[in-house]
Amino acid sequence: MCGIIARIGEGGTVEDLVTGLENLEYRGYDSAGVAVQNGDGIAVRKRSGRVDELRRAVRRRRLHGEVGIGHTRWSTHGPPTDENAHPHTDESEAVAVVHNGVIENYDDLRADLRADGVTFSSDTDTEVVPHLIERKLEEGLEPEAAFRAALDALEGNYAIAALVEDDETLYAARDGSPLVLGVAADGYYLASDVPAFVEFTDRVMYLEDGDVVVAQRDELRVTDTAGRPVDRAVETVDWSADEAGRGSYDHFMLKEIHTQPGALANTIEGRIDPERGAVSLEDFPQGAFDDVRRVQLVGCGTSYHAALFGETMLKRAGVRAEAIRANEYGVSAGPADEETLVVAVTQSGETADTLAAVEDAGQRGARTLAVTNVVGSSVTRVADDSLFIRAGPEIGVAATKTYSSQTVTLGLLALRLVDDVPAADPHFDRRELLSALRDLPDQVESVLQTNDAESLARTYSDHDSYFFIGRGQANSVAKEGALKFKEITYEHAEGFAAGELKHGPLALVTPNTPLFAVCSGDEEQDEKTLTNATEAQARGAPVVVVGPDHSDDVADARLPVPDTHPVWATLLANVQLQLVSYHAAVQLDRAIDKPRNLAKSVTVE
Ligand code: F6R
Repeated sequence: MCGIIARIGEGGTVEDLVTGLENLEYRGYDSAGVAVQNGDGIAVRKRSGRVDELRRAVRRRRLHGEVGIGHTRWSTHGPPTDENAHPHTDESEAVAVVHNGVIENYDDLRADLRADGVTFSSDTDTEVVPHLIERKLEEGLEPEAAFRAALDALEGNYAIAALVEDDETLYAARDGSPLVLGVAADGYYLASDVPAFVEFTDRVMYLEDGDVVVAQRDELRVTDTAGRPVDRAVETVDWSADEAGRGSYDHFMLKEIHTQPGALANTIEGRIDPERGAVSLEDFPQGAFDDVRRVQLVGCGTSYHAALFGETMLKRAGVRAEAIRANEYGVSAGPADEETLVVAVTQSGETADTLAAVEDAGQRGARTLAVTNVVGSSVTRVADDSLFIRAGPEIGVAATKTYSSQTVTLGLLALRLVDDVPAADPHFDRRELLSALRDLPDQVESVLQTNDAESLARTYSDHDSYFFIGRGQANSVAKEGALKFKEITYEHAEGFAAGELKHGPLALVTPNTPLFAVCSGDEEQDEKTLTNATEAQARGAPVVVVGPDHSDDVADARLPVPDTHPVWATLLANVQLQLVSYHAAVQLDRAIDKPRNLAKSVTVE
């Protein structure tokens, strides 16, 4: 939620800032802006709307300067107007600031500043920061000291970058919101996420909470809040600008759906030995989970659905497990203690609700483990340990390949836990499960090559409501199918346990409510799901069966998947559903990569 970028270097700063904002638009797209030092004070351009609007504004009234900051916004405090767009400045435009996060004490700070005669020009919490810095400058502090003094006054969480008039320096700090530093041959970048600048440099320093950065063209200082130097390694990211780009695909989402075979191959690479039925997970050797007696999995949205998938798998393996929505953890989690492993499932590693749940679990004495895609993300700092899903960068707001890699990673974690947790009593054959997993990337490829989702979407994209049902693991996939469908088509969709249909939702079923029945190949379970589907069909609803072929004649339409282990068959069914959602959204001309009102990482509770 909100993306920030900053650059100091030789030439091209404005162009790099705007390109960086385009790369960060997945974090918010309500408004965008940049500010640069141009030798004649600070020049600001900002606009409500997408970064395109800003690009046009920057072209119309040319901007130049070699030190600059930029921002793309997902509104929290105040509507998406030009005034509320960042960067924000003090009244004399001597200081400009961009910010991601929430300043919790902004009401009090505003009141103090107002009492001092400051006039505010926006509704944002951020605007207090440039005024605070300016007040400190007026008191006679040097720019760096003024910046630090302003930080001292803030409560909440932030990643901030600031410019001060007549000072060729970038000031930045993080506390609770992501900020990474890019080291290029001709200067430095700062951004909320690496894709912002990966086309300019792949050398990255992951900053930590409490870090303060002072960057000049030929000098970089990273210190703690007290000004003591801190040592942060420069790492080379192992993916390229091409991987972060859209390539020849019409949308990032389509690219990310189509690159799932490679992503899944990465997820399992070096981790499975089907012949021995063994799983090895980097930092978790045999015995690493000896103390675990119960598992709680927390996540939001798609990651919660992955957590549900993990819960089902763990329960089937005889491990006490519960998936909990991260935003409900504080109020509805059962007891957690040192024998509880709390697994935080979060693609971005920045979701505030999930971070809060991890902190809560830690305070209760539980051991915490982050399952995430982003190395260096906040969750990796908050949790005791991390396990990476290795899906590569995901830019489309709708999670696709990361869901597949999350579920597989949780499946591997379940198998590792089974080795260590004393009460575990797996009901599945590990060798069978793992050799089917080895084939999963190729099977996803075959679904991608042979699917009929586009013509099916054409038939069904103009209906009142869409229902998705399944049992067990297929239930979590049904929920995920519905979430994907609603978020990118803006059509009403619900996913639930197949058996629940007759306990209420059936009242909504009409010939205008297509029903997707997710099957796994487990005949006993599928038979029940299909019986539930016929209950809807009898009320006129068209039924689409998604899953391995059966000798049923229920389906009005089918989205088949190759035969495999029922656990993985549901993931293949999910790929079919991703494609249906995508093509339905194309039919409806939706903003597929940036659905209205949503952002890729939600950093407020
Ligand atoms: C849906 C989607 C969201 C995220 C949720 C959690 O397609 O992307 O529901 O899954 O906001 O995000 P992470 O996984 O980054 O914690």
